[in-house]
Amino acid sequence: MHRYKSQRTQASFGLHGHQVVSMRDSLQAYMTLDQSAPGDAYGSGAIINDFEQEIALELGKQLANFFPSGTMAQQVALRIACDNRDIATVAYHPLCHLQIHEQQGLKHLHRIDSVLLGEPNRLFSLQDLQNVEAVAAVLFELPQREIGGQLPTWDELQKMCDWCRQRGIHSHLDGARLFEILPYYKKTAAQVCALFDSVYISFYKGFGGVSGAILAGDRGFMDSAKLWKRRQGGDIFQLYPYIVSAQYNYRLRRDKMPVYWKNALSLAEQFNQIPGISTVPKKPVSNMFHVYFTVDSQLLEASLIEVLEKYDLALLPASRCDRDNRKYFEFWVGDQFSAVDPEIVAQAMCFLAAALKRGAAI
Ligand SMILES: Cc1ncc(COP(=O)(O)O)c(C=O)c1O
Repeated sequence: MHRYKSQRTQASFGLHGHQVVSMRDSLQAYMTLDQSAPGDAYGSGAIINDFEQEIALELGKQLANFFPSGTMAQQVALRIACDNRDIATVAYHPLCHLQIHEQQGLKHLHRIDSVLLGEPNRLFSLQDLQNVEAVAAVLFELPQREIGGQLPTWDELQKMCDWCRQRGIHSHLDGARLFEILPYYKKTAAQVCALFDSVYISFYKGFGGVSGAILAGDRGFMDSAKLWKRRQGGDIFQLYPYIVSAQYNYRLRRDKMPVYWKNALSLAEQFNQIPGISTVPKKPVSNMFHVYFTVDSQLLEASLIEVLEKYDLALLPASRCDRDNRKYFEFWVGDQFSAVDPEIVAQAMCFLAAALKRGAAI
């Protein structure tokens, strides 16, 4: 898929995600501000504290603190949960971000062990939790990105969080894509976060900001989080370039999530109509899904390039490999999708189906 990977970036239109953040976008965010407003200094100043308050309120938590990255914020959250309980073990999904993308940071930096819940290719359940002994915290990643952004039912989620609460186990929400799942659950961010002791959200996924994260929880927890942010080197002199972008893009896209989800549903349906192509989950529960294929990889690549050449449109992002070495595409809907005429999308999908059929017949 190397040829497609490089050629897709030349297309004028794409269906996946947002446009990459440009200098112009950053400038636009700055232009909405009082031009004489000062920046922050080591986590203090209206520019950072007002935003933290705004997000704490939205998430229904006492305090929120801005971190340079979710990786740092979540390791800090789990460290505090472990220290408070004097247990150095946490539980989470086998494919969560901490387990597969952070080079075992929890273990190396904090000497915290992890118990993997359930199996990689499915969500963990209450039953999986019930098999676990002596953990300080359970991390819930909603949606579960590496399996196409699947979600437990609201009822199951409530039961799992209740189970943690009854046992004094800290429940932490990896809500990197929290706002993206609210339309499916038909809940506010505060209603979802009320199930959890702490929550992290990201500003560069569906919101399309430059980078950055917020960790939120109660006062005692967040006082410790501030200490750990400093110890980890996250209390950098000025965070305002991230805050400006985070706040601007959060306000810009917060209310677009239902549209992204609706578009994801429509697009997944169109992919599923093409023989040899299917999405996981079949019906997306957020703006994301994975696209798998049983057709020959080279034929699919050639067909996607044909679509590129005919419609100047990249139907899919670059492919990735799953842990079984199967190629797939991680797709999420953002602003780019809305810039393309739905009739063109439908035509391009038909064209792709025909190209695959033609190629398979040779
Ligand atoms: C589900 C999830 N959690 C955590 C992170 C970490 O965020 P950051 O890149 O800000 O460290 C990511 C980033 O991709 C993610 O997808």
